[in-house]
Amino acid sequence: MNILILGGGGREHSLAWAILQNPKCDTLIVAPGNAGIKQIARCVEIDISNSTQVKNLAKDESIDLVIIGPEAPLALGIADQLRISGVRVFGPSAHAAKLETSKSFTKDICATAKIPTAKFAHFFSPEAAENYIRSKTYPIVIKADGLAAGKGVVVAFDEITALQAINNLFAGQLGDVKNGVLVEEFIDGEEASLFVLCDGEEILPIGTAQDHKKVGEGDIGLNTGGMGAYSPAPVLTAEIQSKAIQQIIYPTIKEMKQRGIPYQGVLYAGLMINDGTPYLIEYNVRFGDPEAQVLMMRLGAQALDLIQATCEARLSEMQVNWANDHAICIVMATKGYPQNFCKGSEIKGLDKLSQTSHEMCFHAGTKIGKNGAIIANSGRVLNATARGATLKEAHNIAYSMIKAIEWSEGFYRQDIGWRALD
Ligand code: AMP
Ligand code: GLY
Repeated sequence: MNILILGGGGREHSLAWAILQNPKCDTLIVAPGNAGIKQIARCVEIDISNSTQVKNLAKDESIDLVIIGPEAPLALGIADQLRISGVRVFGPSAHAAKLETSKSFTKDICATAKIPTAKFAHFFSPEAAENYIRSKTYPIVIKADGLAAGKGVVVAFDEITALQAINNLFAGQLGDVKNGVLVEEFIDGEEASLFVLCDGEEILPIGTAQDHKKVGEGDIGLNTGGMGAYSPAPVLTAEIQSKAIQQIIYPTIKEMKQRGIPYQGVLYAGLMINDGTPYLIEYNVRFGDPEAQVLMMRLGAQALDLIQATCEARLSEMQVNWANDHAICIVMATKGYPQNFCKGSEIKGLDKLSQTSHEMCFHAGTKIGKNGAIIANSGRVLNATARGATLKEAHNIAYSMIKAIEWSEGFYRQDIGWRALD
């Protein structure tokens, strides 16, 4: 099989690494990729939001399967365009991707299918939203109804913060608000993520994870794309997972099918677990980053068989071969992230790291500089990822990898996994 992966982060490096272990993969191309992916696959510099460029690359390279990593090309309908031109794709249509791109679409699915989620109200003007929150108790959650790169959600513990969030959102400071703003009831509990493959009809759970969204140790400070993750998530016990699948995932997939919008790809459910009951906080229509890194480390070569079965509507025949293992990913980011930071610092020591089925340093924002040097080129830059019989074992391996990396401009959190390790 000739495979094309779209994307260039740690998620796509881990997908490429797992897929290359499967003998069914003849050729792997990643567009645009990064310095780490270049060491294992051919990278092609195209604009992955441009359907003509993606279709031409797929045609020129006789691609049998395209795997779409990030949400942006899915939201733009790149999967639809490829399917129209006869190319097999892993990833939902733009319409089905509304499960991530439109919070009001998802809330409507939840209402029809009676899925447990936070009660909400939808507003198109700051005045109406302000009047509504004055009658509410705190905390309360305020969200832009659209993609906002993780910045469009404010959990307000008092009225001043809530009013400020509404004003900032409607002023367009936290993302696009042409689709309005949602004000949601706050659900207390522990957050965890459940990942399932869906082929339009059937689903197959492929693992659970928890991530650390905040930049600071103890989960404080600004939100980031994710400073680390581990799998499995102990809070998602077999019983709670089963509830989430029966009460949240299946009803969603059934409702999508009934509306004529079958969902194909990976569905990432962000859940809040309150007193043994899972509530849906949000859906993402792609693998998480850095959650993919821990899932891929645990799935290895079978990831490709599972992805292929998803595209061929054969998930009912598949099962995941689980090892009783744990994986953890520690993100190294450029100092200053998620605010201002400088690109261009050199990273050394990566060549001393082992690359095995138990430890890999996946690259996120890296590029190759002069004389082959590895250069930091973004906020999140490296993902030290390890697997072990216990989370503690994986944790020790991942942190020892970090110690071997020489990068004075980088930083990482020392406490990834604290909740599960405690
Ligand atoms: P979202 O982008 O919708 O996942 O929201 C970002 C973060 O805000 C989530 O990961 C939660 O930590 C928090 N959050 C969102 N909605 C709620 C809610 N209804 N109750 C409590 N926390 C929430
Ligand atoms: N790590 C969170 C995400 O990928 O959305």
